Amino acid sequence: MHLAILGATGAVGRTMMEVLAERAIPVERLTLLASERSAGTTLPWQGREITLGVPSDEAFRGVDIALFSAGASRSTEWGPRAAARGTVVVDNSSAWRTDPEVPLVVPEVNAPSMAARPRGIIANPNCSTIQLVVALKAIHDAAGLGRVVVTTLQSVSGAGETGREAWRLEARGERAPGSPFARTIVGNVIPQIGDFDAEGWTGEERKMIGETRKILSLPDLPVTATCVRVPVDIGHCVQVMVETERELSGTDARHALASFPGIRLAESARAFPTPLEIAGRDEVFVGRVRTDPFLPRVLHLWVVADNLRKGAATNAVQIVEQLLRG
Ligand SMILES: NC(=O)c1ccc[n+]([C@@H]2O[C@H](COP(=O)([O-])OP(=O)(O)OC[C@H]3O[C@@H](n4cnc5c(N)ncnc54)[C@H](OP(=O)(O)O)[C@@H]3O)[C@@H](O)[C@H]2O)c1
Repeated sequence: MHLAILGATGAVGRTMMEVLAERAIPVERLTLLASERSAGTTLPWQGREITLGVPSDEAFRGVDIALFSAGASRSTEWGPRAAARGTVVVDNSSAWRTDPEVPLVVPEVNAPSMAARPRGIIANPNCSTIQLVVALKAIHDAAGLGRVVVTTLQSVSGAGETGREAWRLEARGERAPGSPFARTIVGNVIPQIGDFDAEGWTGEERKMIGETRKILSLPDLPVTATCVRVPVDIGHCVQVMVETERELSGTDARHALASFPGIRLAESARAFPTPLEIAGRDEVFVGRVRTDPFLPRVLHLWVVADNLRKGAATNAVQIVEQLLRG
């Protein structure tokens, strides 16, 4: 297979290269693409040095599958052009996620939706949404979903290498003029990711609402989100309040979560995952499973995942694995 990565030098692109090698994806030829800034430099992969190119019609010639991770404007421009030449595009940006002709896929949750892809593009969801829907699907299969309220605590790597660099500079007491964050991030907690809309919701919050409904095929599910940036390098946390349609005991909820593919449930009610402990892992980690003491049919969950892996690169590579299975 000839595979290409657009955005290979980025936080997600580099992780994609690692995950492709770890999971022994049968890549005979790997094309690496980024901006003009990186063109001509090399990145190591499986004992070889691969020279970076820039996206062009020629660069996508003969590519079977392309993983896009270079931002929405690149995906808007190059997704259809690569797909028109027969490349299946797995896009990590927000460009195509809401398009009704583009499946939005988390393989553990909705792999069959990949079969219909009239544009030749498959979208990888937003990082916090991926870990949320894995946990929600386990609960949905057991008792149905009535309502979901989440608060996220999202790491700086969710804003790519620019976000990590701003965090590193601030941690050294330096100014970070290129910071993508709304305020100082070190020593702080920022309840704004993306721009505010007229109603006061941020772009990230709107993405979580719309993408969760689309992936779960529950277009009317009441979902609300508050998305918060925290000074952590890698790993997003989501505190989930979920109301189920049918009653579900704590024991049954834990059983549903523990037996769902891709979930690692904390061993006891007092054990819990944290970003530092799970960074570098591919699963979705769940802990603090509690039934609400006041509200019937309401559960509370603490859900943590590596945003660069399950939240981006690993999910995209799992999509590739599904494509290879046919
Ligand atoms: N970080 C996460 O946790 C996460 C999770 C889910 C989805 N995503 C999405 O994944 C995408 C990449 O995110 P990231 O965090 O990896 O960002 P990043 O670290 O900033 O990397 C951006 C990549 O895009 C490339 N690029 C920028 N401008 C380009 C251009 N004009 N032409 C070609 N390539 C260009 C960069 O190449 P140069 O190095 O040459 O500039 C770099 O490889 C974004 O759409 C983001 O929303 C990120």
